[in-house]
Amino acid sequence: MRKMIVAANWKMNLTLAEGRQLVEGILAGLPELNNEKEVVISSPFVHIAQTMGQLKGKSHIYTGAQNCAAEAAGAYTGEVSAAMLKDAGVAYVIIGHSERREYYKEDNATITKKVNLALANGLQVLFCCGEALEVRDANTQNAFVEGQIQDSLFHLDAAQLKNITIAYEPIWAIGTGRTASSAQAQEMHAHIRSVIAGKFGNEAANEMSILYGGSCKPSNADELFACADVDGGLIGGAALKAEEFLGIINAMKNAKK
Ligand code: 13P
Repeated sequence: MRKMIVAANWKMNLTLAEGRQLVEGILAGLPELNNEKEVVISSPFVHIAQTMGQLKGKSHIYTGAQNCAAEAAGAYTGEVSAAMLKDAGVAYVIIGHSERREYYKEDNATITKKVNLALANGLQVLFCCGEALEVRDANTQNAFVEGQIQDSLFHLDAAQLKNITIAYEPIWAIGTGRTASSAQAQEMHAHIRSVIAGKFGNEAANEMSILYGGSCKPSNADELFACADVDGGLIGGAALKAEEFLGIINAMKNAKK
């Protein structure tokens, strides 16, 4: 049985006080979830200890980070290692977000190193992929996303793959208010699942959670999560308000899967 996940990506937002208040609001309204559904809060690094404390003893809700270093340890000023995240109690780490790829020039080789280190340290990986508008306009998005997955995940073995969740985030839908239609999301998610099946087999593909990200909000989450191959969402803007994030969590709870 594959899991549904709604993961917040706070990006570079919120003071500690604002973060504390947001998590309080989420916990106050968090519905009861079954074992196949979970919530992740991916905060900036400086929030992690505080968020960990707030989530202690809670079930179905976990702490995430938004990045980790591509090296294990040493003289890399400003970086945070996968081992440090694990030691801090983090469960999930987002790797390969389009903002990291674009603004910090992370290529597939760097992202692959991060995936390997995260897995070696026992973290769950939220692996992001997705195409820019010009790729979509040229109708080459399937090959593009397949290339990203091939380059950074195809070297893994079946046991490692179990700790990967894929997040499909079309860049043209991130923070733009322009959501992929549920048909576009379903089409790409089915493609991603077939790419995983081709390399790792049907069982691995069936177990893989594939999240959608890009202007997901309470008003479209029901429709997106109803798609057969959409197993939840990676949420930016709408995760910064407890009420909106809870609306998306409730869409996951109510999804008939
Ligand atoms: P928005 O939900 O703000 O479009 O951001 C999506 C995203 O990039 C999550 O990682």
